[in-house]
Amino acid sequence: MLDSHWPLLLLLPIAVVLSANTISPDASISPIIGVLSQEIAPNGLLARNFKNKTSYIAASYVKFLEGAGARVVPIGIGRNRSYYEDLMQKINGVLLPGGATWFNQSNGYSDAGEHLINIAIDLNNKGVFMPIWGTCLGMELLVYKLANGTEARTDCSSIAQPLPLEFKADFNQSRLFNSTSDLIMDLLKKENVTINSHRYCYTEKTFEALQLYKTWRVMTLNHDWDGIEFISTIEHVRYPFYAVQFHPEKPLYEFNAKGNIPHTQAAVSCSQFFAEFFVNEARRNPNIFKNQTELSSALIYNYSPEYTSPLGSAFVQQYLFEDIPIEEGGDEDEDNTHYFPYNGNGNGADAVALSTITYSALAFCLWVSLHN
Ligand SMILES: *[C@@H]1O[C@H](CO)[C@@H](O)[C@H](O)[C@H]1NC(C)=O
Ligand SMILES: *[C@@H]1O[C@H](CO)[C@@H](O)[C@H](O)[C@H]1NC(C)=O
Ligand SMILES: *[C@@H]1O[C@H](CO)[C@@H](O)[C@H](O)[C@H]1NC(C)=O
Ligand SMILES: *[C@@H]1O[C@H](CO)[C@@H](O)[C@H](O)[C@H]1NC(C)=O
Ligand SMILES: *[C@@H]1O[C@H](CO)[C@@H](O)[C@H](O)[C@H]1NC(C)=O
Ligand SMILES: *[C@@H]1O[C@H](CO)[C@@H](O)[C@H](O)[C@H]1NC(C)=O
Ligand SMILES: *[C@@H]1O[C@H](CO)[C@@H](O)[C@H](O)[C@H]1NC(C)=O
Ligand SMILES: *[C@@H]1O[C@H](CO)[C@@H](O)[C@H](O)[C@H]1NC(C)=O
Repeated sequence: MLDSHWPLLLLLPIAVVLSANTISPDASISPIIGVLSQEIAPNGLLARNFKNKTSYIAASYVKFLEGAGARVVPIGIGRNRSYYEDLMQKINGVLLPGGATWFNQSNGYSDAGEHLINIAIDLNNKGVFMPIWGTCLGMELLVYKLANGTEARTDCSSIAQPLPLEFKADFNQSRLFNSTSDLIMDLLKKENVTINSHRYCYTEKTFEALQLYKTWRVMTLNHDWDGIEFISTIEHVRYPFYAVQFHPEKPLYEFNAKGNIPHTQAAVSCSQFFAEFFVNEARRNPNIFKNQTELSSALIYNYSPEYTSPLGSAFVQQYLFEDIPIEEGGDEDEDNTHYFPYNGNGNGADAVALSTITYSALAFCLWVSLHN
């Protein structure tokens, strides 16, 4: 569809080849993946620098998907159920990014994520293959929502920690790893190719206690700076939901002095493996936008990312959005909006990590400018 402006000479031979080999006519269509945005912390770096912006998406998550052949539609926060249901009839998958927000914050990442997860479950139950990928906080949210809002996270110390994955014996029974090449498996097992940046995590002990093993297959573990074991890769036993505690988008697209992010060829290849796996899952979803106009107006290309790392952000670039206020008396499902009290420090995990990195990076920038 978007290819309609291609030079005719270029298009014709391709069309002939396609029909000659009876390749699916969909072969030229790339998956459209929704990336959930996240509330901007009041008085934080973005709030201070960008008036009126209320949510953001770190551009690395967008590039992560684009680099594997997908296109991205940003998903807003603070919307009513109809908005999410409508979008989920059109997109081919959902990515829940990492970040730094509380699960008890109303009308933000957590509430929006709950709608998306519930709708994806409904679709999959009806036979529509709808994949979700959760990274870091996104993994934490998936597990939390599928455990009916039971807070099962443990304190963990894994900031700026690059690690290989520790595979469990039956990892190859998983969908994520059963057809991984020997080369990638070797790198994942032996080299520092995953970058961790979290202060909370899930442990096998908790998964056993809450019987989360019935819901999730655990493929890999890791150990934090204090030797605490944490779960690093999971997939849902029934639905096409995948989640990682580390950040596969960072070796490819995030660069900051304090992050300890590996940028080796090994790390890049492994990150690319995860991106391609998920985008390929999204190719199995049949949804389409009603027409080209509707798709064009939804795509992320309608927005320009801001270059935020010079301001002190841990992210190189961020897309910023102005959200519409939530409609009163809409179709919010009140039954789904209760939250269990959490007696830890919330998910501040990433919040603390981010502000530490932010301030360190800011200090670094000041130091550089003073010495030049
Ligand atoms: C922020 O919103 C206010 C009220 O709508 C408007 O007057 C102002 O120009 C906006 N500021 C920016 C930077 O967009
Ligand atoms: C969540 O609720 C579902 C449906 O009632 C139930 O099957 C599942 O066991 C619950 N999970 C947890 C961890 O409480
Ligand atoms: C991998 O990173 C860890 C820290 O996460 C470090 O202790 C170790 O030396 C690194 N290994 C290699 C081979 O670079
Ligand atoms: C999974 O790995 C085990 C141990 O390496 C091996 O014995 C088994 O054949 C593998 N199964 C598959 C389906 O590859
Ligand atoms: C991987 O596992 C899936 C799901 O069990 C199965 O359909 C697929 O055939 C397996 N692929 C390989 C290469 O074993
Ligand atoms: C595209 O679909 C939208 C939403 O259904 C509709 O409002 C619009 O008229 C359609 N445009 C075209 C050119 O068909
Ligand atoms: C949901 O919000 C949209 C705007 O995003 C609005 O057009 C629609 O009327 C709302 N639906 C309901 C049922 O409130
Ligand atoms: C959310 O949870 C955190 C951590 O327990 C707490 O500090 C904060 O006050 C809570 N916020 C709301 C709105 O309940």
